[in-house]
Amino acid sequence: MRVAMIGTGYVGLVSGACFADFGHEVICVDKNVEKVETLRSGGIPIYEPGLDLLVQRNVREGRLSFTDDLTEAVRDADAVFIAVGTPSRRGDGFADLSYVYAAAREIASVMNGYTVVVTKSTVPVGTGDEVERIIRETRPDADFAVVSNPEFLREGAAIDDFKHPDRVVVGTDDERARTVMHDIYRPLFLNETPIVFTSRRTSELIKYAANAFLALKITFINEMADLCEAVGANVQEVARGVGLDNRIGGKFLHAGPGYGGSCFPKDTLALTRTAQESGAPLRLIETVVEVNDARKRSMANKVIAACDGDVSGKTVAVLGLTFKPNTDDMRDAPSLEIVPALQKAGARIKAFDPAGTLEAEKLLTGVDFVSGPYFCAENADVLVIITEWNEFRALDLERIKSVMRAPVIVDLRNIYSPEEMASAGFAYSSVGRPTA
Ligand code: UDX
Repeated sequence: MRVAMIGTGYVGLVSGACFADFGHEVICVDKNVEKVETLRSGGIPIYEPGLDLLVQRNVREGRLSFTDDLTEAVRDADAVFIAVGTPSRRGDGFADLSYVYAAAREIASVMNGYTVVVTKSTVPVGTGDEVERIIRETRPDADFAVVSNPEFLREGAAIDDFKHPDRVVVGTDDERARTVMHDIYRPLFLNETPIVFTSRRTSELIKYAANAFLALKITFINEMADLCEAVGANVQEVARGVGLDNRIGGKFLHAGPGYGGSCFPKDTLALTRTAQESGAPLRLIETVVEVNDARKRSMANKVIAACDGDVSGKTVAVLGLTFKPNTDDMRDAPSLEIVPALQKAGARIKAFDPAGTLEAEKLLTGVDFVSGPYFCAENADVLVIITEWNEFRALDLERIKSVMRAPVIVDLRNIYSPEEMASAGFAYSSVGRPTA
């Protein structure tokens, strides 16, 4: 199959590289000439474990190439994937679809022979209909189908998620398009990955419903954590006891500082807007959005409480700034709420993140960024773990204690046990668990 991938952002680049690795001939297109040059020379503009080697190997073996010329990529393609950004529109929270529609127009003007146009970007229900209308308007003679094929990739685990998905969702009523999509994903079906063929609108909604449900699960356990703190119960054990029920499942029940990232905040908000506009408001998800926003803001209070109610003039050492480990992504990260709130309360912030510092420097001011966890802890009055990077899971606690001004740790990801911390001599607080 010949595949064109429009947009070499996170989704486009991972999907393009994985399709090439399946054996297809893939051309990735981006308007940004500099980015195309970087990719051609083997550089990867995002941080995703394993992606550099995957891209380099497929480029070397001639299945993957990059261009800024959309015509060259689309002209002979069997399938053209639209994987451009759909950011939240400023002001109203709707998904901004201008990049998707612009891509549709450009594709329409150059496509040739039967072409399957696939929306891979997360797009609100009905976007496929509009993409179809735009293409038909631009090229009344064109032979094409518009298909919805949402991605379910987690940052940091995207290649594995792409190659071993729980399911593939394809929304189309067009028989020829179904065959093309089946051929594109054929290697997965040999491994018996389920494929959900459905209508385009249903497929578009599945993506939002999945993200909303996961966000709901996280928010549920976060509120349970607050209740655990109030009544002296342990949220990790509640999550385990509840999650062992197969109807519930144990995943996405880790209490923490609130969800962030490029998908959940944006998609839950966009879904509530679509629902309101359609006259079927999702009150549950509206509440999830509110509760999660408030949670991120309130996490600074936990740190202040650990410092006897006052951080003014104190040094707070922050470990982990990205919205989760194994990424340099700072989008909607809890740290972006917590750090400024602590600064406002008079704290001086030192911070270390294994991959996010470059991004964080653009978004946080007045922070002293340092190069490792022990430098970070030096002379600090409290150490706060915001992101659960693996390298924070086995810190030398003796060493940390010896360099800190006071042995106080706030663990917002529950990566240490209260007993271990108590015996190491720390005043330790975490999320939804009693202190030892
Ligand atoms: C998510 C979805 O998992 C993926 O299917 C979709 O395509 C894109 O959005 P991603 O944003 O990369 O992926 O990260 P994910 O691992 O899902 O975590 C999202 C946020 O939830 C993070 O801030 C994470 O820290 C938080 N989280 C996750 C929790 O607080 N507790 C959990 O139990 C799980």
